[in-house]
Amino acid sequence: MTDTEAKSAVAIGADHAGYPLKATLAAALAEWGHPVIDCGTDGTASVDYPDFAHAVCRAVLEGRARFGVLVCGTGIGMSMTANRHPGIRCALIHDVTGARLTRAHNDANVIAFGARTTGVEPALDALKTFLATPFEGGRHERRVAKIELTGDPVR
Ligand code: RB5
Repeated sequence: MTDTEAKSAVAIGADHAGYPLKATLAAALAEWGHPVIDCGTDGTASVDYPDFAHAVCRAVLEGRARFGVLVCGTGIGMSMTANRHPGIRCALIHDVTGARLTRAHNDANVIAFGARTTGVEPALDALKTFLATPFEGGRHERRVAKIELTGDPVR
């Protein structure tokens, strides 16, 4: 992990289905030395996942957090919502290899997990790898730049 990444704040959010895993991941982030911006939810009462995805993405886009972490039942609704924000590159991750490659190749700035599909230990390992892996740049810079739509729908 670089010095900058080690000290960087991480915003985290979940819905009711993701809340228990979010609590575990937030505790791990604090233990690893990251200031944690907890965007909720704060329990298992039913809530709407987009509200928390938007809050985490805003923290990243406004520069209050270097990275975002999202957890819902599958991670799918969270990642769909996050990727509607220009400048957010959210990857739904199930393993360490995906976590490493989405940082190295996609410069992902938000990671999403499914609490019903990914176990606690794989999620912890993946999150640690995500935070420790730098973007490779080079040829990936051009590809990442092409992700954002600029008015040409078939670009
Ligand atoms: C909530 O039941 C569930 O739909 C949500 O956590 C998530 O899996 C949506 O993608």
